[in-house]
Amino acid sequence: MRLLSALALFIAPRIAGAISTGPLSTEGRWIVDSNGENVTFAGVNWPGAADAMLPEGLQYQSIEYIVSKIKSLGMNVVRLTFATEMIDDIYEKGSDTSIEDSLVNALGNDNGTAVYREIVKHNSQLGGNTTRLQVFDAVADECYRQGIYVHLDNHISKGMWCCDTNDGNSWFGDKYFDVENWYRGWRYMAEHVKSLPAVKSVGMRNELRSPDSNSDLVDKTYNWQYWYKHMVENANQIHDVNPDVLIYFSGLNYDTILTPIPTGADLGNGTKFLKDDFSYGDKIVLELHNYDRTATSCDDLKSGLWNGGFNALDTTNSSIVNTFPVQMTEFGFPQDNTTYTDVYASCLREWLPEIQAGWMVWVIAGSYYIREGVQDDEELWGLLDHTWSDWRSPAAINNGLKRMVEATLG
Ligand SMILES: *[C@@H]1O[C@H](CO)[C@@H](O)[C@H](O)[C@H]1NC(C)=O
Ligand SMILES: *[C@@H]1O[C@H](CO)[C@@H](O)[C@H](O)[C@H]1NC(C)=O
Ligand SMILES: *[C@@H]1O[C@H](CO)[C@@H](O)[C@H](O)[C@H]1NC(C)=O
Ligand SMILES: *[C@@H]1O[C@H](CO)[C@@H](O)[C@H](O)[C@H]1NC(C)=O
Ligand SMILES: *[C@@H]1O[C@H](CO)[C@@H](O)[C@H](O)[C@H]1NC(C)=O
Ligand SMILES: *[C@@H]1O[C@H](CO)[C@@H](O)[C@H](O)[C@H]1NC(C)=O
Repeated sequence: MRLLSALALFIAPRIAGAISTGPLSTEGRWIVDSNGENVTFAGVNWPGAADAMLPEGLQYQSIEYIVSKIKSLGMNVVRLTFATEMIDDIYEKGSDTSIEDSLVNALGNDNGTAVYREIVKHNSQLGGNTTRLQVFDAVADECYRQGIYVHLDNHISKGMWCCDTNDGNSWFGDKYFDVENWYRGWRYMAEHVKSLPAVKSVGMRNELRSPDSNSDLVDKTYNWQYWYKHMVENANQIHDVNPDVLIYFSGLNYDTILTPIPTGADLGNGTKFLKDDFSYGDKIVLELHNYDRTATSCDDLKSGLWNGGFNALDTTNSSIVNTFPVQMTEFGFPQDNTTYTDVYASCLREWLPEIQAGWMVWVIAGSYYIREGVQDDEELWGLLDHTWSDWRSPAAINNGLKRMVEATLG
């Protein structure tokens, strides 16, 4: 047995088992920890960017309980989402909003107060003086205590359910997507996460997409040149404030394509994204999403993803001038007893570990404080049931997700 497992270590890439004490960086297509060991992420999204701007589920369970459910899957990362509006409020009002006020704003007086009472009943460390950002901190600290990284994701500008091309949050300069506020929010968060040892990576923006309610903006700016201009500017200032964190670049069309990036292609006006142009190229990671749930061919799904940006993992192809780690920070499907066997779910479950790419599934939630106007809304894609108590579909977890975690982290 001993010999066998020692041999297995030489065959499979060695993946660090514990959360890194120091910062992460990249080496070619790998993320490495402060000991130089390979790190791969296998984890789950935990939303906190909707109307109440609080990590979801806390009216049903404690932070500790939810993190331990995630830990029980063997996962090592949580993608925690926040809205820029949370930081805008801090600047505009001079202080962070209390969770009770935020819940009353989002749910109305009666329901907001009732949900607040349930939250503090399940989470006695939170109370009348606790602010929204302190709840994010409490989640990050509990994750750290249980050996789980937190990847902080800027999900949306205005706190609400995401994402639509007409929701005003789609693209730089859209109704709610004020670019200066976005920069300011990131400078704030880049500084803030220095106090949170679980947070070693940040996602600059979730699912950039065509601002379809503003055709002028689409025609003039929805392209890779403007992508480059704003993403690079934001990455530069994040790195200036906090040189330790990994910075994730997402792509266009709901973050489904990063096509011109691996090859360093001309982005339209002679500008090229070249790793060597960055003084912090070893802090850059690429992220893509995929929800191509009607896929009937795994080969087609894989080649679409590979050519769409996962080919930045290719260290053997001289056309790939920018080698980066690439991760799938969102994919997901209904948590019933059969969907996990579909082509889509099975294909990603096998392929992402095979190419040694990190991933974060959508979503731990069993229900939301409020989604698109509906309070206490059920999340059929949630790994957990409505009250965040146990797995919604033990079959999907045991036969699907756990195997994917094991195949990824070994
Ligand atoms: C990381 O994985 C690669 C690919 O399997 C391997 O060549 C490299 O030696 C690994 N690094 C460490 C420190 O294990
Ligand atoms: C308040 O909560 C109750 C019970 O969950 C629900 O039936 C009602 O629809 C909520 N009110 C609003 C305005 O959504
Ligand atoms: C909450 O704030 C009140 C008023 O500022 C203060 O008296 C109280 O000690 C605070 N409670 C906690 C737990 O910090
Ligand atoms: C086009 O390229 C120039 C020169 O590289 C650059 O300064 C400019 O910002 C680019 N245009 C846009 C819209 O990014
Ligand atoms: C190398 O990458 C280029 C650009 O993506 C692609 O066209 C080509 O097919 C790749 N070659 C191999 C052998 O994969
Ligand atoms: C999955 O199967 C179990 C056991 O057969 C059943 O209790 C449960 O209701 C099913 N779940 C769903 C979401 O269909």
